[in-house]
Amino acid sequence: MQTIKIIKKMRAFSNKLRSEGRTIGFVPTMGALHEGHLSLVRRSKSENDVTVVSIFINPTQFGPEEDFEQYPRNMESDLGKLSGLSTDAVFIPDDTEMYPEGPAVSVHTGHIGEILCGASRPGHFDGVATVVARLFNAVMPNRTYFGQKDYQQTVVIKKMVREQGLDAEIIVCPIIREPDGLAISSRNAYLNTGERKAAAVLHKALKHGEDLMKKGADDPSQVIKEMEKVIGSEPLAEPEYVEIVSPEDLSSMIKISIPACLCLAVKIGTTRLIDNVIVQKNAG
Ligand code: PAF
Repeated sequence: MQTIKIIKKMRAFSNKLRSEGRTIGFVPTMGALHEGHLSLVRRSKSENDVTVVSIFINPTQFGPEEDFEQYPRNMESDLGKLSGLSTDAVFIPDDTEMYPEGPAVSVHTGHIGEILCGASRPGHFDGVATVVARLFNAVMPNRTYFGQKDYQQTVVIKKMVREQGLDAEIIVCPIIREPDGLAISSRNAYLNTGERKAAAVLHKALKHGEDLMKKGADDPSQVIKEMEKVIGSEPLAEPEYVEIVSPEDLSSMIKISIPACLCLAVKIGTTRLIDNVIVQKNAG
């Protein structure tokens, strides 16, 4: 596995592969790699000649009161996991490489970055889009793999790719869950034993909403109320938002039409967790 720290070297590596007609799959991460990330690496490896994973904890996507300092950092163990999967290259730039003149020139995501998670995390999606654009420029991938858990992020990035005419296919991969339904996330490491147990309520609420919709419920406010009741049954849980939106553009629905994205953000103690389910038409 090659370790690359400099954008120029990353581009030289990718240029050579592209000139040989080989495809590059890319998995951007902030490290603290878990089964969710590893599923993206496996998928990329199955669909591309070469897989590059980046590890960069992007300061511009954290608000001033957020967990940038505490964000888990496990470089040695991350590199072990990636070489265990025979990843071809890992790109590990530092802050001055990614933001040599500071983050002044940034991507503005507008409304789509201001709703849902963006409402409580102003500037977060601008930071995500800015760093992803810079990573695309360095890695020059044919395909890039993101987890569905950060669903809004995938919609924002697809919009950026369309609007900027970038040559990058975005592939959204399924959420990997613990046996009790909790979506695997680097931030689950913040939960103590009681909170970890309580965190199963996110998926429980989503499943309840999905069941109601599959039985024909079509009033979003009714379904949201029912989901909030499930969250309310867990004393450690404090909902930030529960929404039903179009999976295409995250617009809200007056009447539920399927496919629909049920999404929520809930605080368990001091840890903010997000999750979602895309409700599809019943097969057959
Ligand atoms: O999903 C993440 O880990 C980050 O938001 C990303 C896409 C690596 C950008 O920093």
